[in-house]
Amino acid sequence: MTADVRIGVLASGRGSNLRNLVERGYDVVAVATNRPGCGAAAFARDVRIPLGEFSQRRFGSSEERDAAMLEWLLVRGVELVVNAGYDRILSHAFVSAFAGRIINVHPSLLPAFAGGMDAVERALAHGVKLTGCTVHVVTDDVDAGPILLQAAVRVLPDDTVERLHARIQAEEHRILPEAIELIAQASTSLRQ
Ligand code: GRF
Repeated sequence: MTADVRIGVLASGRGSNLRNLVERGYDVVAVATNRPGCGAAAFARDVRIPLGEFSQRRFGSSEERDAAMLEWLLVRGVELVVNAGYDRILSHAFVSAFAGRIINVHPSLLPAFAGGMDAVERALAHGVKLTGCTVHVVTDDVDAGPILLQAAVRVLPDDTVERLHARIQAEEHRILPEAIELIAQASTSLRQ
């Protein structure tokens, strides 16, 4: 059984986390992207999940883009927003509209290597022996909201960014669904 929550996924990349959620039976009712050519968008089209395209160049500002995206997600009854490889910072109005109901997966053990899309490269370049991934609640402070779950991954002597990222992603695919379960349980008990 997977949590009974209507999920909207925001994605800009390959979409392996999106695919994982769908394959595990989560109710992904909407996918929003700023990169209509990305793998996540292609997957949403393939499996016929409503896809919203919010490329920045269509909007005068990030606030306007997020206002349109917020409206689009609300119309679809989204209850929980999952940032799965979304490479834009969400505006304050968007974060407050979904306060406590936006989670993000980041490929490092936060607060290490916060910010940006190159956390795996930076961890490897820094020579850390242990890295991993984090699922946290999104607040206005980038990559700094309350941590829900983390998983550690050992860095091997001959690692490349690709190999290390692949092992981190295997852990992301485990802890992101677990984090959704935690959020869903918490909101159910709050309702009772
Ligand atoms: C993941 O490593 C995630 O931690 C980061 O972007 C990547 C997205 O991967 N924020 P995918 O598009 O879900 O395959």
